[in-house]
Amino acid sequence: MLTDKRVLLIISGGIAAYKSLDLVRRLRQSGCTVTAIMTSGAQQFITPLAVGALTATPVYTELFDREAEQDVGHIRLARDHDMIVVAPATADLMAKMCHGLADDLATAVLLASDIPILVAPAMNPKMWSNPATQRNVACLKEDGKFLIGPNSGEMAESGESGVGRMAEPFEIADAIESHLAETTPTVVDPLPVGPLSGRHILITSGPTHEPIDPVRYIANRSSGKQGHAIAAAAVAAGARVTLISGPVEQPDPIGASVIHVQTAAEMLSAVSSALPADVAIMAAAVADWRVASQDSNKIKKDANGAPPALSFVENPDILASIGNHPDQRPALVVGFAAETQNLLENARGKLQRKGADWILANDVSPETGIMGGDTNTIRLLSAEKVEDWPSLSKDDVARRLIDKIAATLA
Ligand code: C5P
Repeated sequence: MLTDKRVLLIISGGIAAYKSLDLVRRLRQSGCTVTAIMTSGAQQFITPLAVGALTATPVYTELFDREAEQDVGHIRLARDHDMIVVAPATADLMAKMCHGLADDLATAVLLASDIPILVAPAMNPKMWSNPATQRNVACLKEDGKFLIGPNSGEMAESGESGVGRMAEPFEIADAIESHLAETTPTVVDPLPVGPLSGRHILITSGPTHEPIDPVRYIANRSSGKQGHAIAAAAVAAGARVTLISGPVEQPDPIGASVIHVQTAAEMLSAVSSALPADVAIMAAAVADWRVASQDSNKIKKDANGAPPALSFVENPDILASIGNHPDQRPALVVGFAAETQNLLENARGKLQRKGADWILANDVSPETGIMGGDTNTIRLLSAEKVEDWPSLSKDDVARRLIDKIAATLA
């Protein structure tokens, strides 16, 4: 709950602005006061009237507005809140934030603020992956801003797919809640400094969902606990972390850039866009197959009672594509092998086929309780040897793996 919290929402000009209306509604439902600033671009997509009707407070649009300046002033707007949320954040606004430009109310407030700032980027996938935007993303993080998303999926305006969709309003609302629970209003968490400072670690986590039709999908029992714990441990060790997560119940690890995906194809595209990285840790339980032709309508029961015949095609192997990448292979590539039989033999095969440096093999037979549970028993295979780890909590496995990576890269 966000009872008595005050959020200043900055809406910039992108089609995702319509989702910020739902964000306002959710924040108000959880007891939060929301004040909105809209850029002129945002007003091309939604109106201040609609936003004000939902916030029930004045909507600010002008830097040189005499009435507003006498009433609150942009400096007070920048200070009188517990958090600033920029959703959607366009590539242009992010660039301005990095360079400290202040040529309209939104940028002036952002520059004058000393409270936590959460940024939810939304843009075309090509704009997102452009090195200029990626430099700005790194700069915003270095300046202590928090980022959520963007997610992978279809773009509203062009129908193109890729990374660039704004995080969903419920994800942004959850992130606001967890930041406000963990940060005091005037302190921004500094990025931890540790043995992996300056390194970029790319992690996959969770299952993938492969659609059958608009309402049904194929999934697996991965909880994402291990991959998310590794992301948190890598952040704590000072790394810049990109976590590509399938659908999980786990909260986004604070300090990591999290990209939410559904399918193996989306996961591969998000992983490829996140390169280059120093280390790749592929902990996701990626579905091996997807349905060959996905139905655009819900499949109905046959009058004769005959079940539908589904045919499958193989999904891309993300670990193998990273491990065998022609020009951007990370210095260290780590995979997992969840097996129910012939653990070592299967894991050894994966080490070679997928071009990994290490495989963390574990027995996931139902009686071990590892799938979805809180502990894990790892055998770490490299080309040279096998290391047997004792049964550890997933958090301890994560720390031990990150310590080993730091020692290897040192
Ligand atoms: O072949 P298997 O799924 O058992 O291999 C497990 C390892 O390969 C894990 O590290 C998993 O994240 C990765 N993997 C992948 N893409 C796939 C299948 C598995 O990255 N399509």
